[in-house]
Amino acid sequence: MSKQIHLVSFQIHSPINHTVLSWAAPGDNRLDALGDLRKWQDLARTLERGKFDGLFFADTPGVFDRYRDSHEDAVKYGVCWPSHDPVVLLSALAASTENLGLAATMSTTAYKPWSIVRQLSTIDYLSGGRVGWNIVTGHLRGEHRALGYSEVMEHDRRYDAADEFMEICYRLWGSIGEGAIIADRESGVFADPDKVAFVDYHGEFFNCETVGPVLPSAQRRPVLFQAGTSGRGLRFGIEHGDVVFSIQPNLPGMKRYMGQLQDAAASLGRKAPGVLFGVQPILGGTEEEARRNLDDLVDRLPLDGCLARLSGTMGVDFAGIDLDKPMQEQATNASQGLMKAFTSVLGDRPFTLREVAIKWGLAVGMPQLVGTPEQVADQLESIWRETGCHGYNMTPNVMPSSIEAFVDEVVPILQKRGVFRTEYEGRTFAENLELA
Ligand SMILES: Cc1cc2nc3c(=O)[nH]c(=O)nc-3n(C[C@H](O)[C@H](O)[C@H](O)COP(=O)(O)O)c2cc1C
Repeated sequence: MSKQIHLVSFQIHSPINHTVLSWAAPGDNRLDALGDLRKWQDLARTLERGKFDGLFFADTPGVFDRYRDSHEDAVKYGVCWPSHDPVVLLSALAASTENLGLAATMSTTAYKPWSIVRQLSTIDYLSGGRVGWNIVTGHLRGEHRALGYSEVMEHDRRYDAADEFMEICYRLWGSIGEGAIIADRESGVFADPDKVAFVDYHGEFFNCETVGPVLPSAQRRPVLFQAGTSGRGLRFGIEHGDVVFSIQPNLPGMKRYMGQLQDAAASLGRKAPGVLFGVQPILGGTEEEARRNLDDLVDRLPLDGCLARLSGTMGVDFAGIDLDKPMQEQATNASQGLMKAFTSVLGDRPFTLREVAIKWGLAVGMPQLVGTPEQVADQLESIWRETGCHGYNMTPNVMPSSIEAFVDEVVPILQKRGVFRTEYEGRTFAENLELA
């Protein structure tokens, strides 16, 4: 268990964060932020004021196109569309902060190992070691279609390909050895070629012949995040993730996941990585007000927009299925872990398709922590203690006011209880996450 709770703000560079139609919510500034870098910089500074470990961007390149076999509902409601590139934001955010970790999702389908190492390590080097990478294999059909692939590669083979991808990344990150850089102005020698290893990799999926493209940062390489929850995904996360994310609908699901992760790690002879659970705090001055705020969010959700997102993540077209019957597990080549988590019985009865669609519309299945600042702090502390998780990947509802309220009202309570930092302990993202 971590010494303290770790907090990461879970964002998307699109008109919505995770809540469908949040761009239309009264007071939400996301549409302005899409065209104004300063709003993102303000957000990063707010998170830094709240001593957050990091700001993390999910990314779903392409468009959700499974529901009714069309992209139209995603486009109509602005469901993660347009999907602006998160990586280009990171350097601007690094320039406006000193301590905040900055992470982006990049898929092993959309990029080559060399290009990810080069892009992320350049920002990691420039920022003094504050970058993270969420490794995803790319499970969306829309992403594959956008990139010109006619088929989505089979689920487990995507992870096999991603293993190779990572092997090349590690070699590139390790290529520039200790003492390699001489930079002697007198002799004009920049580096000792004997200390720069040539990467000569030929695999089933990828080839790479070159030397490391970027100087090693203060943390040597970006912090690696991963979020696969299927059997094969868990293995990949254990083998490569410094930290793993999980979305579970409730506490029993979180506990079950922790057990699965521990068992899988033990069977691989490894230590399980720390877990950040996805949650969505919904605050109010009173519990009733917080509940009303949640009800208002639910009332605004367009069901077709929610189903567009759910169908995309699950890789299944949910059009025409009875919304009020329990959601049935279906074979999928997309997110097998999430499909299982939301079709399992984790309470007194299974979730209906309508309930899951609404959960997806609110926050892709992340549970809402509803209440006064004190009550939300209680929930964050008790889940952390009961599950032994590392902390939370937290999605806001209204931007940026819900984050400002969290920083001003919940963070001081956690700090007073001694479960959250009052100052950054380390220099790098890895150090602040207790990984170094
Ligand atoms: C918390 C969480 C966040 C995720 N973020 C992204 C993302 O930003 N982009 C993406 O393409 N996939 C994302 N995924 C999908 C996973 O990385 C993974 O590809 C998918 O869940 C299928 O893996 P599985 O079947 O092993 O669970 C996320 C999944 C989870 C649980």
